[in-house]
Formats: sequence, C-alpha cells, structure tokens
Amino acid sequence: MSGSHNSLVFSGMQPTGNLHLGNYLGAIRNWLKLQDQYRCIYCVVDMHALTVDHDPKSLAQATREVAAAYMASGVDPKRSIIFNQSQVAAHAELAWVLNCVARIGWLNRMTQFKDKAGKNREAMSVGLYAYPVLMAADILAYRATHVPVGDDQKQHVELARDIAQKFNNDFGVADFFPLPEPIIQGPGMRIMSLRDGTAKMSKSDPSDYSRINLTDDADAIAQKFRKAKTDPHPLPEAEKELEGRPEADNLISIYAAFSEQPKQAVLDGFRGAQFSAFKGALSELVVSKLSPIAAEMRRLLADPAEIDRLLHKGAEEARALAAPVIADVRRVVGFVG
Ligand code: TRP
Repeated sequence: MSGSHNSLVFSGMQPTGNLHLGNYLGAIRNWLKLQDQYRCIYCVVDMHALTVDHDPKSLAQATREVAAAYMASGVDPKRSIIFNQSQVAAHAELAWVLNCVARIGWLNRMTQFKDKAGKNREAMSVGLYAYPVLMAADILAYRATHVPVGDDQKQHVELARDIAQKFNNDFGVADFFPLPEPIIQGPGMRIMSLRDGTAKMSKSDPSDYSRINLTDDADAIAQKFRKAKTDPHPLPEAEKELEGRPEADNLISIYAAFSEQPKQAVLDGFRGAQFSAFKGALSELVVSKLSPIAAEMRRLLADPAEIDRLLHKGAEEARALAAPVIADVRRVVGFVG
C-alpha cells in the first residue's frame, strides 16, 4: 500500500446499456491499477440513471451488465467494493443534507447540466439539476480522497470539493470531510466515435458503427474498424502531424492504449502504411484484448443471481463504511436519534 491509510478511491458509472470501448479505456481500465495502491469502491450509479427518462424494465439488466463489465475487466470483488448505489441508503440521505449546503449559483455553472438540458431547462427533472450533489454524496459518504474520472466529470468533482469545504466551514468541523481529488486520465484517452472523430464515442449514438461494444464479437469488431472513417493519407511519421486528422488520431490512440505504448511508438511501427493495412492490425489487437473480457461478461451474465449476490455483499460492505460517516453527519447538523 503506497497510498496513506486514509486514502480511499471512489468512482462510478451509470447503467445505461451499450458499454463500449470508450467506457473501458476511458474509465474501467484506469480503475484496475488503483486497486494495488488504494482501498477502492466502484459503484454502479443506478440512482443517477433516474435523472433522465429511463426504462424500468431494462435498468436491472443494465445494472448487472455494468457490474459484470467491472469484474470481467479485472475489478476484483475480493479487494474492491462493487455495488449498486440504490442499495445503500446513505447516498440519498447524505444527498439531502448536501442539497442544503450546495448553492443554486454553483449548480447553475455546471456545464453538463447545460449540455444535457439544452433549450429544455424548464422541462428537465429536479434530479438532473441536483445530479452533481448526489455525486458529491457518493464520494463524501465514504470520505473518499481520490476520484478517477474522465475530463467531463472534473467540474463535478470540484463541486464536491466546494460542498465538502462549505460543510466543514458552516458546521465548524474542520477536516470533517476530506477534499476529494480528481484523478483525470489524460485528454489523449478520450475515445472518439468511429464515424466522427470530433464526437465522443457514446452509448447513445444511433449508429452502432460509431462504437465498439464490449460484447461485440471478432467479426463485428473487424467490420466496424474496416468501415471506420479515415482520411485518404497514410499514417504520418510524427505525432504532431496527426493534428487536424481526428479520425486518424483516434484509431492510433486506440492502438496505443491497447498496446500500452505512446502514440509515437505506434507511428514508428506503421509510418507510411495505408489505413486499410493498419485497421487490420488494429482489429486483431482489439479482438485479442476484448474477447476474453466479452467471454467473461457472458459467463457472469448467464448467472444473474450470482451477480446479485455479489452486489448484495458489496452493498453490505459499503453500508458498513458509510454508517459512521452518516452518524457523524446527523450529529453535526443536529438531528435527534
Ligand atoms: N457522473 C459520473 C459519470 O457520468 C458517474 C458518477 C456518479 C461518479 N457518481 C460518481 C463518478 C462518483 C465518480 C464518483 O461519469
């Protein structure tokens, strides 16, 4: 353990179906190494899934799929806590208190709400607006110190810091909540759509050709890379020549990520090659890395009762960790009992 004994990692992902390469490379894969250094809690945030229209019939399955993806990718339920948010009431309970600490002005600055709401602000749920406060509660209920997230969630982690700081000040309890630090995986790790190198790979893109799903088989992966958009030029010699070539950059980034080498090293191996040839090598590499994960996901999902059992066990561990924090919060704000 190189992290101090008080260090704790918390992160989460929404159960919205269609888990893809971007979720794996941009999030889950970064969580694995942290298990060697820290106590880690990895949550399936099913309460966050209610902030926008959702289908109750598919939520449970989506929750199990995300849990299975965590485990199939190497999150170890013996070392780390894996559970779904709604099983641990501490999240909702603390979120209420923190709703009364956070300021409307702070939430008005959240860019993700503005993006998701667009011109429809008035028609959005209160839950979508308060989403970042629930996220702060997720983190602070365990006094987590480190929060691995993508670039797009940095503002939310900063809000969690502001909320923690204001709670500590308002109630005169210095250091009650540690100020959580984001661990941001580099912007180079943003995986983009295979159809449009300027848009993030997304589970909500209507075209399945825009993403590699974690459950795609070898043929689907090869076909999607074959059809992936590129420009007519061969692979360049130097990384800086990828500027202005977002599709080329994306494919090379994916290769670099899976082969665990810098982009320049990939170019050293393939410079001057046509994309048609490179795409073949890329498919082979991605298939070799993803097929064991897909197979393990299928194995786990074939026994949903076993996943539910693991989630129950994780929830029990999470409840035990959050209980003393919630008891302290209740005392500090003046609740009886
Ligand atoms: N909002 C995060 C996302 O969409 C998911 C999330 C919810 C989360 N609660 C969290 C991430 C707490 C880190 C810590 O990616």
